[in-house]
Amino acid sequence: MKILVIHGPNLNLLGKRNRQVYGDKTLEEVNRLLQEVAADLDIEVVTFQSNSEGALIDFIQEESPAADGIVINPGALTHYGLSLRDALADSNLPVVEVHLSNIYSREEFRQESVIAPIARGQVCGLGWRGYVVALRTLVAELKGSSP
Ligand code: DQA
Repeated sequence: MKILVIHGPNLNLLGKRNRQVYGDKTLEEVNRLLQEVAADLDIEVVTFQSNSEGALIDFIQEESPAADGIVINPGALTHYGLSLRDALADSNLPVVEVHLSNIYSREEFRQESVIAPIARGQVCGLGWRGYVVALRTLVAELKGSSP
């Protein structure tokens, strides 16, 4: 089983950027943790980050035919990235949306997600642990087992 874990714009700055909101872990540390979870689950996780919506879409188009599911933190594209949303929908894969922060307790513009309506579910406000919850739950659902 192969799961794509995708990080959108500015998430390359995790660990430096607004640490009170997004936490101390770097993207590298988060990805390393996800590889540990992948080893535990005996699955393959491919991680990708880009600051460009086009590069995210290219990655989804190229990788999704050989993948089983997607975990994505779309960054600010969450709130207006309709091309990204279309690419995710066109992948026909189950998508779990992740946010480190609780977007519903923040500025009004962050409280709408254009991704959520095409997602299997959303995990938000749980920091880096949200990625682990999303990955484990998605894999459990795909395997038809308990988490
Ligand atoms: C975010 C929330 C977005 O509003 C913001 O633009 C991000 C990160 C989060 O993980 O909480 O870049 O997706």
